[in-house]
Amino acid sequence: MKTVTFILLSVLIGLAVAEEPEAPLAEECNKELCKLPKCRCSSTDIPGELAPRDTPQFITLTFDDGVNIRNIETYREILYQRTNKNNCPASATFFVNHEYTDYQLVNELYNQGFEIALHSISHQTPQSYWTEATYENMMKEFGDQKRQMSHFANIPSDAIQGIRIPFLQMTGNASFQVMAATGLRYDSTWPTTSFTDPGLWPYTLDYASTQDCIVPPCPTASVPGVWVLPMISWRDLNGFPCSMVDACVFVPPHHDEEAWFKFILTNFERHYLGNRAPFGFYIHEWYISAYPGVKRALVRFLDLVNSLNDAFMVSAGEVIDWVENPVPVNEYVKKECKSFVSTSCRRTSCGPLTSTHTEMSYWMQICNICPRVYPWLENPLGE
Ligand SMILES: *[C@@H]1O[C@H](CO)[C@@H](O)[C@H](O)[C@H]1NC(C)=O
Ligand SMILES: [Zn+2]
Repeated sequence: MKTVTFILLSVLIGLAVAEEPEAPLAEECNKELCKLPKCRCSSTDIPGELAPRDTPQFITLTFDDGVNIRNIETYREILYQRTNKNNCPASATFFVNHEYTDYQLVNELYNQGFEIALHSISHQTPQSYWTEATYENMMKEFGDQKRQMSHFANIPSDAIQGIRIPFLQMTGNASFQVMAATGLRYDSTWPTTSFTDPGLWPYTLDYASTQDCIVPPCPTASVPGVWVLPMISWRDLNGFPCSMVDACVFVPPHHDEEAWFKFILTNFERHYLGNRAPFGFYIHEWYISAYPGVKRALVRFLDLVNSLNDAFMVSAGEVIDWVENPVPVNEYVKKECKSFVSTSCRRTSCGPLTSTHTEMSYWMQICNICPRVYPWLENPLGE
């Protein structure tokens, strides 16, 4: 009888570990209790109570979706070998999903100093899959993707810090609880159209967020220590908000480089001449390779940023680093550049690999020994 009880108990405890953690409802934020570096209330206040002119203006350029032999050409052309005015390498962040991603190229991006972040294993449709996603679903999409990315691209697991959910579809508490359980640091899925001028600075989810919820469900539980990097909307030419640049509706003609450059600057100035909340340039590569005028305008904008004394093109993770320990721009420029552990890639081409979720077979370019089957949900390493 005792053994039976013991086994039952062990099974129950085993289940509890895999299950969704407790989620206390978040309380109104208390600035006295919630202090940097670990905690920050959702607010448009500049961290460290700095004046705008003493605040570094960060630019976070991000690209979503798979990395492949086509889009890497754009990345090499417009991003590599850029330097900020403090003589540190300029960075950008890639939110990468698994399917059709060339992991050798992810390794290249990482070793060029760019940040690799997560965008799910399946990136599946319909969008309602994400709306309804449970803790368990999100663990398989993101918790497992962290291991998968580190394994196939051969990059350190702790270099992978951020997530963006497909279609910017929030999943309530679930994604944030998975982040807390798997050591992921920040989310960059959550758009704001109410806090654009002044802009909402990154904050933690220890306490209740005051951010507008554009794509519900948004989290209401307290998830200590997990950061939100709000996607502060741009405004298109008619004043309508857009979270991704390629989703803006009323934009200048795509061939008109000059008008696009002005369009970008107008949005940038809302931040730079305002409370200097990080300026997000969120886009998919196809948009700039399809429209050379837009690409030239972006390059001009990045050249401009790289020439300013108080603006810095950095990874999203570097923004969180600064928010945790805010220093005035004159101190920031004296700091050592962010270092990273470089890795090598033992290049392997694998396939055809049978898959469990479709009839198709796949080829993979990776930095490791080949998986047995095509990696997918529930089997992220393809064992
Ligand atoms: C998030 O957690 C809070 C607190 O437990 C709960 O009240 C709320 O319903 C949860 N939200 C979702 C979408 O599950
Ligand atoms: Zn996507």
